[in-house]
Amino acid sequence: MFKRFKKKVNKPNEKETLNLHNIPEHIAIIMDGNGRWAKQRKMPRIKGHYEGMQTIKKVTRAAHQLNVKYLTLYAFSTENWSRPNEEVNYIMGLPVNFLNSFLPELIEKNVRVETIGFTDQLPEKTIQAIETAKSQTAQNDGLTLIFAINYGGRAEIINSVRHLIQDARENADFSIDTIDESLFESYLMTANYPDPELLIRTSGEQRLSNFLIWQLSYSEFIFYKKLWPDFEETDLIECIKTYQLRQRRFGGL
Ligand code: FPP
Repeated sequence: MFKRFKKKVNKPNEKETLNLHNIPEHIAIIMDGNGRWAKQRKMPRIKGHYEGMQTIKKVTRAAHQLNVKYLTLYAFSTENWSRPNEEVNYIMGLPVNFLNSFLPELIEKNVRVETIGFTDQLPEKTIQAIETAKSQTAQNDGLTLIFAINYGGRAEIINSVRHLIQDARENADFSIDTIDESLFESYLMTANYPDPELLIRTSGEQRLSNFLIWQLSYSEFIFYKKLWPDFEETDLIECIKTYQLRQRRFGGL
């Protein structure tokens, strides 16, 4: 008989309990592995993205329940336009689908929807869905759910430099000595958020892929084996426990 056993991947902390007093204020996630998830099931890649969207709902609920203050999700990078048209079009429709089905729950849970990225370059239907969600949740002050859409860290930095120089040119009193980290950060798309304490990337890949390259300078990185559509609330808790162990060791030194 073929003996089945459950492989323990990424579950080193099962016996640890979650410390509710040390939940990261800001968690950033690179949602990777949708295509591989679909391929493993001999399904089209877009099915993986659809399931990935369902995972976003689960993770948002979990983050809300854990009192996470900011959750930033890498939904579409400035490099993702090079994918086949059919896939790009499908991904661009997902915010519409997501918000049609989930906006009432986001409102009920006091979640504020925001975006970072060059959203003005998105298709009109995507912009409309996002703008509606932003305006209908603008007064909420629970979890802030930030979608990075058409976002790239290098492009963000170049964009910030351009704006900073423009402001400097328009202000005769401007002195370059006033340029410091805090001033520069005020030009980033993330100016209103603290830096993430924790970055999670699913699917086992160990890269930043141009995501929040300035903001993640001091963050803890967790590269998690599971593919994004398989990621669940318990996996988020697992990641936070790993983060808490790292914090504790650091504090003990
Ligand atoms: C990475 O997996 C995933 C993406 C590039 C797209 C992620 C988008 C969503 C989950 C939906 C966005 C929805 C909303 C509501 C904004 P991959 O395709 O690179 O996977 P692979 O590496 O296995 O091919």
